[in-house]
Amino acid sequence: MKWQRKDILGLEDMSLDDIRHILHTAKVMKEILMRPIKKLPTLKGKSVVNVFYEASTRTRTSFEMAAKVLGADTTSIAIAQSSVSKGESLYDTAKTIQAMRADLVILRHPSSGSAKFLADILDPGVVNAGDGQHEHPTQALLDIFTMEEELGALDGKNVVIVGDVLHSRVARSNAWGLQKLGVNVTLVGPPTLLPIEMEGLGVKMTHDLNDALPGADVVMALRLQLERQKSGLFPSLREYNRLYGLTTERLKKTGKESIVLHPGPMNRGVEISDDVADGAQALIERQVTNGVAIRMALIYLLIGGSSNVVA
Ligand code: CP
Repeated sequence: MKWQRKDILGLEDMSLDDIRHILHTAKVMKEILMRPIKKLPTLKGKSVVNVFYEASTRTRTSFEMAAKVLGADTTSIAIAQSSVSKGESLYDTAKTIQAMRADLVILRHPSSGSAKFLADILDPGVVNAGDGQHEHPTQALLDIFTMEEELGALDGKNVVIVGDVLHSRVARSNAWGLQKLGVNVTLVGPPTLLPIEMEGLGVKMTHDLNDALPGADVVMALRLQLERQKSGLFPSLREYNRLYGLTTERLKKTGKESIVLHPGPMNRGVEISDDVADGAQALIERQVTNGVAIRMALIYLLIGGSSNVVA
């Protein structure tokens, strides 16, 4: 298929064809990534700039590694040491990066809609690496890639996403993307962290994890985003863990050898126990590896599509 997108902003507005094309491309990229010598000249002379207004380990590093494997130059702006600390706006920061002839901008920002704002004003492509509580499309794509790699076709499969849905751009992007692939998605969380407007996604919602688990092929635990929470959203961490924490005992309720995902970083002992996080059903480290492959695919499709790494 002919790739036509300039930007990756979210999965809500992404066609099934585009999602499938990204997953196919990522499969090829993973083969390259797993080689002992994994450097290609494909994107030599291209530049990718990471602009992260929020902390990140996985997303930022994997975009850097993905760009480097493909031969592109990559730069990360250290926001705290940049002119943002002198009051420079996102608009002026982005225009400055464009003036330096960047080919692709990767943006993480606390405001929903910030990636679209940049995409509308910049000539280079923009990838949303997480915008507020809105979307985290590259995370959902790597989650979907991991599920397909393990389970095969996802049509008709049951995915339970449990935890702090209210603050989770990961849950929103997964809900959009998975449903396009025919997956039955159930969101689970306490009433204060599972907003009623999520019904608009067309997913099932429940406050009872024990009810949701039977038949689940995938259980995804979300990070409790304590840094975004006002007090009083749940009685205590202990209570939260008792009702929504993923433990070995609770995982048995699926009645299957379900796989366990977590976008990271994990609050061990809160949303997931050590034995589940480190157990055989957890594919959390594989998600990280697949994150590099997905980001290689996206960078390649957005700025290198004329070369022939992928037939
Ligand atoms: N999953 C995720 O976005 O992790 P980071 O915040 O470490 O990038």
